[in-house]
Amino acid sequence: MTLKTRLLAGVLFTALATPAVAADMTVGFSQIGSESGWRAAETSVSKVEAEKRGITLKIADAQQKQENQIKAIRSFIAQGVDAIFLAPVVATGWDAVLEEAKDAEIPVVLLDRSIETKDPSLYLTAVTSDSVHEGEVAGKWLVDTVAGKSCNVVELQGTVGASVATNRKEGFAKGIAGADNVKIIRSQTGEFTRAKGKEVMESFIKAEGGGKTICALYAHNDDMALGAIQAMKEAGLKPGTDILVVSIDAVPDIFKAIAEGEANATVELTPNMAGPAFDALAAYKDGKAPPKWIQTESKLYTKADDPMGQYDARKSLGY
Ligand code: AHR
Repeated sequence: MTLKTRLLAGVLFTALATPAVAADMTVGFSQIGSESGWRAAETSVSKVEAEKRGITLKIADAQQKQENQIKAIRSFIAQGVDAIFLAPVVATGWDAVLEEAKDAEIPVVLLDRSIETKDPSLYLTAVTSDSVHEGEVAGKWLVDTVAGKSCNVVELQGTVGASVATNRKEGFAKGIAGADNVKIIRSQTGEFTRAKGKEVMESFIKAEGGGKTICALYAHNDDMALGAIQAMKEAGLKPGTDILVVSIDAVPDIFKAIAEGEANATVELTPNMAGPAFDALAAYKDGKAPPKWIQTESKLYTKADDPMGQYDARKSLGY
């Protein structure tokens, strides 16, 4: 199957699948932690999706540590769960534990991040966005917005070694490629958290003459952007005007910031990864092979998209 056909199959699977039932199942979910608003939303949406289907969901919070995720997977195997969801904190180092799950005939579904493995049969399917595309959408938005004006960009990267951090960096570089006026002048990890995003932005501002030479911030998630917005305000800068802000996730707080003119754009990542994952498991139980990649949508939002309406809609979904 070509990449294009696989992609299409994934999108169609998400769009067309009738909510499948996988009741009487126990699923163990090795969750990364609660580093961002998006992550907390993914955890609560997963619980709701499990409840809707009568599935018992056991969540293990790994506190950002791969070793804790490996321990949790081993514990789920020992408990004899029917399936395992894994949101992998980093991309590498999973083969040994996933082989143990395979030997125990427990299907593993990757949620929101991908892994690097020589043996793709170690997982059933991956429910993720195209995170290279997300970065590219953000980069293109910036190129269009500055319309030929010179623009120095500072970048806040996600967790080092996470697939989404690598891909969002690559995607943004792709999005600005060919626009010689747009240049990344500083790039550092903010670990996907508000606190670290603020701290790193403070150092960027200091190093760039109080922020005068910075035209835009690209953050790999909204939480780091929100921390950075705080740092800009404390430095006497006007976020959204003096420094443009574009990020990824579409959490409620970024819509508030967009409505207030303190952020400019965000690319949505749905927190509902578990819904399509449960449907894939139900299909698998019925003998149907789900596509290897179930792709979720990535939509750009700006001030033109009724940010307070978007805020309210997400809040009512339990964000
Ligand atoms: O893997 C998804 C990313 O992880 C989200 O964009 C970020 O907020 C989270 O921590």
